[in-house]
Amino acid sequence: MKISGSLTLLLLLGSVSAQETSESNPPTPSDLYAALKEMTASLVQLKADMATVQPVAFSASLAVEGELHIGPVPSDTPLIYRHVPTNIGNAYNTTTGVFTAPVRGAYHFEFHINSANSRSTAAFLVKNSENVFAAHESQPAHFMSSSNGVTLLLEVGDKVFVRLAATSHVFDNFNHHTTFSGHLLFPM
Ligand SMILES: *[C@@H]1O[C@H](CO)[C@@H](O)[C@H](O)[C@H]1NC(C)=O
Repeated sequence: MKISGSLTLLLLLGSVSAQETSESNPPTPSDLYAALKEMTASLVQLKADMATVQPVAFSASLAVEGELHIGPVPSDTPLIYRHVPTNIGNAYNTTTGVFTAPVRGAYHFEFHINSANSRSTAAFLVKNSENVFAAHESQPAHFMSSSNGVTLLLEVGDKVFVRLAATSHVFDNFNHHTTFSGHLLFPM
């Protein structure tokens, strides 16, 4: 995004105030006119750039209603979060649980996993097929959550999802404890 117009204007304004205490040449009206014209062009470009940035943000939880227990799973299993209060840009697929990057950029993700009845749970945030970050919890009784978050540079078409680790159990209910969220920070 171009900011040279406003920089030029700032420099000109700087020299206007500096001129009060020094003998440097003041900007002429045509200098100011040229700077304003350049700045207007930059603002038009900036507005166009902003209009082409796609908004992308989603949040989803595992259970739509009632109570849901998954596992213990025999092998690593992708989680499909079916309760989706936010899916701006539709990059999160509610059928597969997979987020697909629509533009190259920096994206932030977080995931929270919950387990009940003293069963341990672990999950990985996966980029394409690579485990990026894990969340894990294990305790002798009761109810506990674990979470993690990451910012990733994604190419168009890169896929991000959460995989429940082998032997893990995960719990969710109508209060929505087990969640997966992400958004585009900025395109690159
Ligand atoms: C979600 O994925 C399924 C299975 O790959 C596909 O059939 C469907 O079209 C996808 N939905 C969207 C909105 O892309």
